Amino acid sequence: MIALCDGVEIAYDDVGTGIPVAFIHGFPHNRSLWAPQVSGLLDRARCIAPDLRGFGDSSRSGPFNIDQYADDVATLLGTLGVERAVVAGLSMGGYVAFSMWRRHRAIVRGLVLADTRAGADSDETRAKRQALIEVARTRGSGAVADAQITGMIGKTTREKRSGMIDEVHRMLESAPGEGIVGALEAMMARPDSTPTLATIDVPTLVVVGSEDVLTPPSEAEFLHREIRNSRLEVIDHAGHVSNYERPAAFNHVLSEYLAGMDYT
Ligand code: MLT
Repeated sequence: MIALCDGVEIAYDDVGTGIPVAFIHGFPHNRSLWAPQVSGLLDRARCIAPDLRGFGDSSRSGPFNIDQYADDVATLLGTLGVERAVVAGLSMGGYVAFSMWRRHRAIVRGLVLADTRAGADSDETRAKRQALIEVARTRGSGAVADAQITGMIGKTTREKRSGMIDEVHRMLESAPGEGIVGALEAMMARPDSTPTLATIDVPTLVVVGSEDVLTPPSEAEFLHREIRNSRLEVIDHAGHVSNYERPAAFNHVLSEYLAGMDYT
């Protein structure tokens, strides 16, 4: 489905009944990242999964920045008549979730922070992103997917379920160049969310794959320490896209978390 959010087309899935959950994908993904949760949880949650602008079937027009992504999700929820939702973000989706908390707090009933980090980019990371922008511009999305795929998936998945490498690679290489460059610039410019953590007072689930090398478990432990009303779950034998690599384990911890939410 497509919604017009402040003049920009945002594609999304909206299925299931129960507590609304907005699932925000990472970089350079699209809403299909969350397909295992949308299909697995639709009997207990209203699963709303947008393509961030620049990705999937959404408009490729900017501006691209983390706050704009957050505003788009908030506008989409408003358009769908959702007053409050659990906001679940993976990696870059987590950066968007922090922004939603800062800018649209009244909407946020709870947070799921998966394989993400609070800190801003270091100079070294910014330089790597600049190099990836050049790759995107000169060699296209396939080359970006080639560069990203190994870090995206855990060692165990790569060794035991190699078919998933192709599956995730296809998702990454389908990302439009405008979206890739826009998101890289957005992440480079994002603020440090560390001061935000102490302000979070909604129930928060922090999840991380034990083999995540991009946003390692130490980052999740930090989030858990700093967010007072949080719970930490480590998904064994999963890497950066822990929800996609081990959907049953991820859905189990997410279901437990949702069951503890006060929702009628
Ligand atoms: C993601 O999966 O969204 C990216 O790894 C985030 C990042 O590069 O910081």
